[in-house]
Order: sequence, then C-alpha cells, then structure tokens
Amino acid sequence: MARRGLRGTVLTFTGDPFLADDPAATLSITEDALVVLEGGHIAVIGPWSPERARGLEVTHYPDAILCPGFIDCHVHYPQTQMIGAHGAQLLDWLERYTFPTEAQFADAGHAAAVAKLFLAELLRNGTTTAAVYCTVHPQSVEAFFTESHRLNTRMIAGKVLMDRNAPAALLDTAERGYAESKALIERWHGHGRQLYAVTPRFAPTSTPTQLEAAGRLWREHPGTYLQTHLSENQKEVAWVQELFPDRAGYLDVYHQAGLTGRRAIFGHAVHLTEAEFACCHRTGSALAHCPTSNQFLGSGLFPLFQARRRDRPVCVGLGTDLGAGTSFSLLGTLGEAYKVAHAQDTTLEALHGFYLATRGGAEALDLVDSIGSIAPGHEADIVVLDLKATPLLAFRLAHARDWAEKLSVLMTLGDDRAIRATWVAGELRHER
Ligand code: GUN
Ligand code: ZN
Repeated sequence: MARRGLRGTVLTFTGDPFLADDPAATLSITEDALVVLEGGHIAVIGPWSPERARGLEVTHYPDAILCPGFIDCHVHYPQTQMIGAHGAQLLDWLERYTFPTEAQFADAGHAAAVAKLFLAELLRNGTTTAAVYCTVHPQSVEAFFTESHRLNTRMIAGKVLMDRNAPAALLDTAERGYAESKALIERWHGHGRQLYAVTPRFAPTSTPTQLEAAGRLWREHPGTYLQTHLSENQKEVAWVQELFPDRAGYLDVYHQAGLTGRRAIFGHAVHLTEAEFACCHRTGSALAHCPTSNQFLGSGLFPLFQARRRDRPVCVGLGTDLGAGTSFSLLGTLGEAYKVAHAQDTTLEALHGFYLATRGGAEALDLVDSIGSIAPGHEADIVVLDLKATPLLAFRLAHARDWAEKLSVLMTLGDDRAIRATWVAGELRHER
C-alpha cells in the first residue's frame, strides 16, 4: 500500500473528558493538518505544508473535519430488515418481530445479502468498527466476517447462543453452541482485522449450563470478546430474577458464570444498581449506551454520568442497537443521547459525545491503542465530516461561535449526509 495524505481539520482525543481535571484539554483540534497514511496505518500527523506533502498523493477536504472512524459497540446486523417494527416493548418485540426475522438467516444466501448491505450502511454512516450480533446460525457469522474481511473493516462479531425460551428453529444446545462458536473462533478470530465475540443473547434465553459453557469458551480463547444484553427493560429484569432466584441480581447471573471482565460488553444496562456499576468497574466490564433503542422500545434512560462517575468509572461506548435502534448514524445516536442526558438533568456536551463515538468506544472495546484516535501507529480508519452537507447545516454552522458549538450542531443535525468520506485501513471505502 502506497503512502498518501489527507489534508483537513483533524479532531482526536488524547484522554477521557469524563475523568480529566481539564476536560477540554483532552480534545485536540488541528486546523489544516496533514495526515500521512501508510500500510493501512497513520504514519504521521502534523500541520500541512507543501514540503511535508512532497511526493504524496494528497486528498484535500476543505470545510470538513477528519475524525477517527466511529465505533458502534452494540448492533444486530440481521435486524436491518426490521427497523421501526413498532408497537411493542422488548419481550413482545422479540417474539413478534425479531425471532421470525432471525430465523431467515438459516439461508446463507440471505445472510450474505444482508451482511453486504449492513456493512455498506455502516460505512455510509462513518462507522468503521462495530460489535455485532449475528444469529444462532453459524452461516450468519460466516457471511458477516466474509464481507467484513473483504472490506478490511475491523469488526467484532459472534454467533448468538440460545438454548431456551425462543422458537425451536432458533435454539442450539450448550454443547452445540460451544462447538460451533469454537470452530468460528478458530476460523475468524485474528484473521485479518476480524475479532470474535462469544455471544449469549441474554440470560433468559440461555440455561445456566449454556452460560457456564460460554464462560469456559471465553476463558479458553484469550483476546476474544463477550457480548450480551443486561438490564434493558423492567419486565426482563423481573424475569431474570424468577429464572435465577439464587443470584443476587441480573449482572450476578453473568458474573457467576465467569462472563464479566475486560472485553465483556453489556448492552443497555439501563436499570443497574450501584452494586452492579461497582462490579463493572472492578471487573473492567464495559457498557453500551443505546439511546435510540431505549427510547424506541420505551426501555428507560441510561444514567451515563452515573456510570462514568469519577470515583469508580465504568467504560461506556455508544451502541445503535439496530433494529430496536432507529438509526445507523452515531451522530444521530449522539443527538438522542443528548436528549436522554437532559431528561436526567445532566448535559452531554459535544466533548463527551465525540469522545464516546471514537476513543471512548475504543476504550470500551479494549482497542484504544489501535483505533479511535488519529495518531501515529493507529489503524487508518478515518471519517470525513462535511460541514456543508446540507444547506441548513452550512447555514447553521456559519453562525457557530467555536468548535464546541459546531460539534454540538453536528450531533443535533448530523446524519449520513454529513459523512463525506470513510477511509478504512488507509483505503477510501465510501464517498458521498
Ligand atoms: N435482548 C435480547 N435480545 C435483544 C435484541 O435483539 N435486541 C434488544 N434491543 N434487546 C435484546
Ligand atoms: Zn441488542
């Protein structure tokens, strides 16, 4: 791969604004910078000058921001075809819409077609890394990783494990789920940029035996991930308490099965107790904040600032959680997260928002040294935000006083139209 340059205003974080004494100092904005890409990585970043650019093919992006590729910490690719399936809260929504949709992924051709569309849509929205749920069918994982490997995107994904409380066509068993996941790990984990996540759907659809097997599998394969759902909906929480009466709470079900720790990612976590936040902090487990989904299903308000409390911070990334989520766009997701924060008398500043979408997501996924920043040595996943994407955006941004205001407006008005280009490992993969 040749050396090449991108020229424009660069935004990146050097620290965590939720924890820093001087939050604003964690954001670095370099106007008119040159980013040199080589071998899929960022080689150099500095102020633009003709001398630095000599011999490079340079793409110039005026009226734009070069930002680390967005990171979606929780999303279901098979649910692309059922976005906006309305009228039900979580448990009814799963029965009525989700399970019938996921049953179609027994067909490998269907899975391949949806995986292709889904990954193209992520890139159209500036998302370059995601933690993705497939279905119970190994061929759904095969289809997803095949397409992601072709695009060279850094993706985390796994086969859903379910051995009870779902239609028969969607059930595996503890042994079969273990064996199929193990084969997929051996085939895909660390193959190019692909990473595997052991994926029990959630406690109600796995027997204690299956959760134990998932814990064993995860421990046996260091470097893999563990993803599942946690305390999304009040009825779900009550059901888990019934199914696991000898556990101290929802998170304790996972904790006792060995499913907490660094590289464990729990989706939603809307209704956690203080003891559960403390457990996440202690074990290094991360949470995915899925505001559009939580609003769509009426699940509740994720207490972001409580999760990130400075005396026991929990890692948090953003999740779109499609198809319960309503947008592929992490800008749109930030717009919703802002409203959810306000509904709890807190304010999600752009500083916090862009951190969560980039470096914060990388922290949550334990990938902070490779993605989520525009810095030398990092993988060259870069999204170009168009400050003139629409007449309204151009007009509104012309009236913004500073970068903080511009970024807030992007969180409020931004969507896929604001994504001018998406670079993946130094290659242009989407251009508007
Ligand atoms: N809990 C268990 N499965 C799911 C799912 O597919 N989507 C959401 N939002 N919550 C879940
Ligand atoms: Zn989900």
